[in-house]
Amino acid sequence: MSAPEDFSRRIEEAIKSPKNLGELEGADAVGTVGNADCGDMLRMWIKFKQENGKRVIDRATFQTFGCETAIAVASVATELIAGKTAEEALAMGGSELSAPLGPLPPVKIHCAQLVEGALRSALSPENIPPSNQALAPTLLQQFQEQSPKKIILEPSK
Ligand code: FES
Repeated sequence: MSAPEDFSRRIEEAIKSPKNLGELEGADAVGTVGNADCGDMLRMWIKFKQENGKRVIDRATFQTFGCETAIAVASVATELIAGKTAEEALAMGGSELSAPLGPLPPVKIHCAQLVEGALRSALSPENIPPSNQALAPTLLQQFQEQSPKKIILEPSK
């Protein structure tokens, strides 16, 4: 199988049942980022827990108006960062966050950067207070202000 076909198959597999999709109730942090070029947006919620005297990521979830690659990367990235401290998660770049999917084609690298950006936004100090959740507009509200064309991907009930 050629590399592009292989990439498509890995993305297809990952989006068949994306992990950690949807809002995270009781999240400690939330971050949203948009890509001005493609118009895609991604929001990530993060919840921490104490483990062995360290504050680590208990769970991360996401919601997106994004392409399939962004969904696939967010799915694997939210699994990869579980159990890491904020500092350890912040040390991961787009290529590490998307590593389980294999190398991304150059035109898809920005999709992993969208995930990285949402993670950085969520973990920036001003987004960590829980009060931020109440202040943040929903992803749908934010998206509607920018573009009414795409459909939000929600978890299946
Ligand atoms: Fe924009 Fe993938 S095409 S995030």
